[in-house]
Amino acid sequence: MAWWHGTTIYQVYPRSFADGNGDGVGDLRGLIAHLDHIRDLGAETVWVSPFFPSPQRDFGYDVTDYGSVAPEYGTLADADELIAQCHRRGMRVLFDLVLNHTSDEHPWFRESRRSRTNPRADWYVWRDGRGRHGRRPPNNWRSNLELRSAWQWSPGRGQWYLASFLPWQPDLDWRNPQVREAMFDVVRFWLDRGVDGFRLDMFGTVMKDEALRDNPFRPTLEDGDLPRLWRRPFNRNTEDNFTLARDLRAVTDAAPEPERILLGEVFGRSDELSGYLADGHGLHLVFLFDLLAFRYDAGFFRRLIAEHETAFPWPAQPAYALENHDQTRSIDLVGGDLRKARVLAVLLLTMRGVACVYQGQEIGLPNTYVPLRDARDPMVRELLWWLPEAVSRRLRRRVNRDEMRTPMPWTDAPGAGFCPDEVVPWLPIGHVPGRNVAAQAGREDSLLELYRRLLHLRGRARALREGTLRLLPTPRGVLGYARRGPAERWTVLANLTGRRARHQLTDRGELAVGTDPDVSVTGRDVRLAPHSAAVIGHR
Ligand code: NOJ
Ligand code: CA
Repeated sequence: MAWWHGTTIYQVYPRSFADGNGDGVGDLRGLIAHLDHIRDLGAETVWVSPFFPSPQRDFGYDVTDYGSVAPEYGTLADADELIAQCHRRGMRVLFDLVLNHTSDEHPWFRESRRSRTNPRADWYVWRDGRGRHGRRPPNNWRSNLELRSAWQWSPGRGQWYLASFLPWQPDLDWRNPQVREAMFDVVRFWLDRGVDGFRLDMFGTVMKDEALRDNPFRPTLEDGDLPRLWRRPFNRNTEDNFTLARDLRAVTDAAPEPERILLGEVFGRSDELSGYLADGHGLHLVFLFDLLAFRYDAGFFRRLIAEHETAFPWPAQPAYALENHDQTRSIDLVGGDLRKARVLAVLLLTMRGVACVYQGQEIGLPNTYVPLRDARDPMVRELLWWLPEAVSRRLRRRVNRDEMRTPMPWTDAPGAGFCPDEVVPWLPIGHVPGRNVAAQAGREDSLLELYRRLLHLRGRARALREGTLRLLPTPRGVLGYARRGPAERWTVLANLTGRRARHQLTDRGELAVGTDPDVSVTGRDVRLAPHSAAVIGHR
């Protein structure tokens, strides 16, 4: 099987991982100095969120130059060094590519917005408005969160431009062959420098309906998503997007060995998203984000697994995560209960697919509360500034993304080993006793050591990474599945209830990893403590 098929990804948000030069902002030198943490953890692939030049209004997801490094993060030589240092450790590295939009300060857009006739006039999605004087947006598409139109009026051109996320992130027009070539060149630029692939930001909205038809108004409560008023057949997951996946694949396939990969950030039902894989000729992997919206409940995981088995049958691999830089920390979704966090770690790392761990998740880092008025997150500043603090404070799913982006705590020092103690970091450090790497390293019962044991087991046991999966009949509240490869077999059992549970295996097994000292396997008899899980090997 290809290297990526059974890999585990560790997501680094470089601004908050480690500050190498002491200015309170994480950077590439800091990341390079901490690569051993990721290697020792046992994750083989690092995905690095954007570090390209940017006004940092969306902290790098608003790019002004795809071919270099923002000075606050380092230099191109540092990016080369990052690639080399990952490879030296036998690891792979993925960069984060924002294909859908640029910053409005990108030279392409500055030129494009100047007139209707300049050489880059058609590089973005510009349209005349509707109604008298064209002052109504060209169609009914909504931007991020649906709170406003996706169209922005530009007095300079007397036209509207499309911005699917935030107003200063104009969407590129990928129907323009020059745009395609320019962006494919960006891909080639980094491939030539040795990157192992890309995480593709907002890939599902890159190719919009050619005629820009109105989306149908149909309120829904999509599972795991926010309530929506419009369906989005015309600006999300279009057939043309699936075709683009194939075209991009041709670009990465043309690079010399090892195989370079494409991991899409896409949203929608899993059966719809399998279109991106294009029977093995499109993106290598796509995130199935239903896990981010998990409920701590055996039934939820059973349904999720069954759905993945149907929509992404072996050898396709789902990719998933429990948390990321946009979403609430998972420990807070289980009420801070470390027993439950341990169960989640087992499920994440033994279900069938490519698992992604977000920095800090391995030490049970919770969200760090940041009031809306202090938010640096543009989603709050642009869209949610009106939300009363008293309401925001009570939301289970946090809306201020700063809260999951606070610096990685390496130690319990005032600067958490992230930056010098006397420096004020770009976001506050959440000093939670015991939730730092130094406090947990080498402590048998820590979450960090559990992650290590699981990742190392996953590294050795091919069946856990790439084998088939079969759900097992289990008592209520208990989840069980069997993983099978050519040479090994494993049973995973998780008790997601507050009561003890027992289970009879069909044949003898041995406990490889248990999340609780009260988990035991004797012959065929498994005993599970409340909120515990076991990975059991069979000879
Ligand atoms: C998704 C990224 O994960 C998020 O952080 C960013 O704000 C948007 N895309 C816009 O690029
Ligand atoms: Ca720095």
